[in-house]
Amino acid sequence: MTLADRVRAAVGAVSDPELRRPIAELDMLRDISVDGDHATVGIALTIVGCPAADRIESDVRRAAASVTGIADVTVDVGVMTPAERKALTEKLRDGRPARQMPFGPDSLTRVILVSSGKGGVGKSTITANLAVALAEQGLAVGLVDADVHGFSIPGLLGIPAGTQPTRIDDLMLPPVAHGVKTISIGMFLRDGEAVVAWRGPMLHRTVQQFLTDVFFGDLDVLLIDMPPGTGDIAISIGQILPHAEVLVVTTPQSAASDVAIRSGLVARQTGQHVIGVVENMAAFTLPDGTTVDLFGSGGGSEVAAALSEGDEEVPLLASVPLSPALRAGGDAGIPIVLSDPEDAAARTVRALAERLSQRGRSLSGRSLPVAVTRRSAPES
Ligand SMILES: Nc1ncnc2c1ncn2[C@@H]1O[C@H](COP(=O)(O)OP(=O)(O)O)[C@@H](O)[C@H]1O
Ligand SMILES: [Mg+2]
Repeated sequence: MTLADRVRAAVGAVSDPELRRPIAELDMLRDISVDGDHATVGIALTIVGCPAADRIESDVRRAAASVTGIADVTVDVGVMTPAERKALTEKLRDGRPARQMPFGPDSLTRVILVSSGKGGVGKSTITANLAVALAEQGLAVGLVDADVHGFSIPGLLGIPAGTQPTRIDDLMLPPVAHGVKTISIGMFLRDGEAVVAWRGPMLHRTVQQFLTDVFFGDLDVLLIDMPPGTGDIAISIGQILPHAEVLVVTTPQSAASDVAIRSGLVARQTGQHVIGVVENMAAFTLPDGTTVDLFGSGGGSEVAAALSEGDEEVPLLASVPLSPALRAGGDAGIPIVLSDPEDAAARTVRALAERLSQRGRSLSGRSLPVAVTRRSAPES
C-alpha cells in the first residue's frame, strides 16, 4: 500500500453526518496525492453550502493527518455534478423508485406509534427520550413528529430553530439529533408561522410526505409522535401504516384512562397492534423515601387491562415517575437518557427501550407474555 492508498482508506472511512455512510461509499472522494509528508485530498460534496460541509472537511483533515507519515493536509472541497448527484440518489434509494413509501408491511423497519388520549401526558417527552435510548443501544432510529399542530420534538431534541432538512435534488435528508434522524413540521415553518388552519387533506399530505419524501435510509425503528386523540392525523396514519405497532401513553390518573383506552381501540380498528402501555408521571420518591403520587396511581394497569382481550395481552411496559430532571432536559433540548442516565425516569425509559428492542419485530397476531403489573414494571 502506498502512502496515498493509506490516506484514501483513512479518509474514505469518514462518515457523512447526514447520510451516515462512509464517504468512500458515497463516491465523494476525488484525487488524493501525497508529496513528501503533505497530503492533498479532494472531496466532492453533494450540494453547494451543504450544512455538513465543515464537519466533513474537518473530519477528512483529521483522518488524513492520522495516517503515519502525513504531517500536513490540504482538503480541496468541490461539488458533485448533477449526473454524480443523480447516481448518488439512485444508489441511496437502492432501486426503490422515488415517492414510494418505504415503511410498508414488507419493510424491515419496526414502526411504533406513540399515542395518547389527551395532550400533556408526556407523550413527546417519552418519545424523544425513547428514540435517543434506542439509538444509544446502537439501533438506527428515525423519529417523525406527527403532531403537526402541537409539534415539540425539535425543541425536545435541541434541534436549533431554523434547522431544515438538507435537499439533494428530490431527496430530503432529516436532521440528526443525538443519533436520531428527525423530521417535524417545525423545520418548515418560518418564525411565528402557524398551522392552526390546516385541516384534514393538508395534514394527510404532510404526514404522507414525511413518510415518503424524507430519506431515512435503513432504519431499525421508526417512532412516530402522534397528536393526542383520534383526529385526522391518526386516521391518515392508520391508512398509511395499518401494520404499525402502537404504544399508548397515559398518566396514572383514573380519569385519564378512558380517552387513552379509546385511542388504543381506534388504532386497533385500523389493524394496528397495541404492543403496550406506558404510564407517565407516576409516583416519585423523595430523598427520605416517601413516595408522592401527584396524579394518583393505577391508570397504566387500568388501560392495559382494558386493551387486553382474549389471548391478546397488552402489558404495562413501563411506569415513568415524575421527574424534574426529565422536564428540565426537555426544556433544554438535552434528553436525560443522555445527560442524567441514572435519574429514575431515565432508567425507566432505557429499560423500556431494551424491552422493545428485545421483543424483536412485529408481534402482530402473536400473543404476548403475561401482563406486567405495576409493581413488577421495570425500574418503576
Ligand atoms: N415524568 C415527567 N415528570 C415531570 N415532568 C414531565 C414528565 N413527563 C412529561 N413532563 C412534562 O410535562 C409537560 C408535557 O409533556 P409533553 O411531552 O409535551 O406531553 P404531550 O406530548 O403528551 O403533550 C412538559 O412540560 C414535560 O416536560
Ligand atoms: Mg406532544
